[in-house]
Amino acid sequence: MTQKLLEFEGVGKSFGGLRAIDNVSFSVHAGEIVGLIGPNGAGKTTLFALASGFLKPTDGQIRFDGKRVDGQTPPHICRAGLVRTFQIVKPFGEMTVLENAMVGAFLHHHRPADAREVAAGVLKQVGLGGREHQAAKTLTLSGRKRLEVAKALATHPKLLLLDEVMAGLTTVEIAGMVDLVHELRGAGISILVIEHNMKAVMNLSNRIVVIQYGKKIAEGSPVEVANDPQVISAYLGGEHAA
Ligand SMILES: Nc1ncnc2c1ncn2[C@@H]1O[C@H](COP(=O)(O)OP(=O)(O)OP(=O)(O)O)[C@@H](O)[C@H]1O
Ligand SMILES: [Mg+2]
Repeated sequence: MTQKLLEFEGVGKSFGGLRAIDNVSFSVHAGEIVGLIGPNGAGKTTLFALASGFLKPTDGQIRFDGKRVDGQTPPHICRAGLVRTFQIVKPFGEMTVLENAMVGAFLHHHRPADAREVAAGVLKQVGLGGREHQAAKTLTLSGRKRLEVAKALATHPKLLLLDEVMAGLTTVEIAGMVDLVHELRGAGISILVIEHNMKAVMNLSNRIVVIQYGKKIAEGSPVEVANDPQVISAYLGGEHAA
């Protein structure tokens, strides 16, 4: 658990006059599930976009597997083994579930037959086995969230960034997603997960990082974070109570 897979060091991101991320430093170690929490608009998705190459930091460095990735393109970073899911799931609706997962698989597998085999495997892994040939748009929200995870898994990640894959799901569906995340970690994938559902994130995470207004305000075990006065006030004290 000592190898640092992903490291944010003094990372900042400004959008014009808005300081969306301010001097954030933390790491995700190999084999960990780390929770990233904070009120709406805190900057969580922006951190994912920075790590995965969709945005470039204004300050600081981001390293993955010991190498600088800030400023690299998403395909380059994905190829290195770091992939994100999107908060707003947008499958290619007219394409089948299998074809959607193949999009991820094509990153490393150029022969369609190979991509198809990898895609079928990850669909089974996320519980979408048997749904390969239906149009992606016919999946329920829970199915679309699982497909988003499958597309990411098809790129063979070392580290998976999951952005609110439980949002909008029922209690039973959330429990299923928590089990899936544990299984993925069991399969050797490290995970950084953004989640508003406190019970789920507390159950899942080895460590939790809390951000508010773009700054890290706490980091520790789920119990430490849940008892941190600054975290309690971030969630209960402002207009963004979750
Ligand atoms: N591309 C952008 N251009 C300008 N402002 C942006 C951009 N992306 C994010 N922001 C702003 O940066 C801040 C952080 O947004 P971000 O989406 O990272 O928050 P979040 O923590 O993921 O919130 P939520 O829990 O609601 O998903 C917000 O004030 C948002 O409006
Ligand atoms: Mg977000």
